[in-house]
Amino acid sequence: MSKNLQSIVLLATGITMSLCLPALSAAAEELTWRSDILPIVAKCIDCHGAGAPEYNEWMQLDEATRKTVGPRMDTYPYFMSYVVWPATGAMMRRLDDGSSSPGDKPGNMYQHLGATDKERANNLTTIKAWLGEGAWNLNRFKAKGDMPGISKEQLEKIKAKY
Ligand code: HEC
Repeated sequence: MSKNLQSIVLLATGITMSLCLPALSAAAEELTWRSDILPIVAKCIDCHGAGAPEYNEWMQLDEATRKTVGPRMDTYPYFMSYVVWPATGAMMRRLDDGSSSPGDKPGNMYQHLGATDKERANNLTTIKAWLGEGAWNLNRFKAKGDMPGISKEQLEKIKAKY
């Protein structure tokens, strides 16, 4: 190979590699509660912020009040109480876009994920990826109707890095 041809090949390889790098690092990057999820949850805190009753207190309210007041979910442990326990799967059932729900119906909190379809879809993708592959399950702790209770294998998929 001539010296010139060699440097052209090297240059081309360099350009290709640098073009691929951002994509690679984005895929390998680990999503965290602090950098990726909190900014999304900011859209929820008007109704689910520090002033809202925590889940167990909220459950003590009468049903009519519970329809108008949201429970607290502005910190990692509060948020996770709607993913893992005691409100297993509530986060997934409410935020699902319909694709994982039996009736193709989006959860009633999906609308709050963004102002546009694109923003809502992007934010849902981020939350799903953060929870972990295979961790987006709508099951409750115990079986209800046709839906089986959550399994230990399903729970083990949850990554949700802080
Ligand atoms: C305008 C107020 C409002 C906003 C904004 C809002 N919510 Fe809610 N949310 C409520 C109310 C009120 C309830 C209780 C009534 C109901 O169950 O629908 C609720 C219920 C929930 C529940 C069910 C809790 C349970 O255990 O049953 C989840 C999960 C939830 N919201 C998640 C979210 C998320 C995540 C966001 C942001 C993307 C959000 N909500 C934005 C008002 C809101």
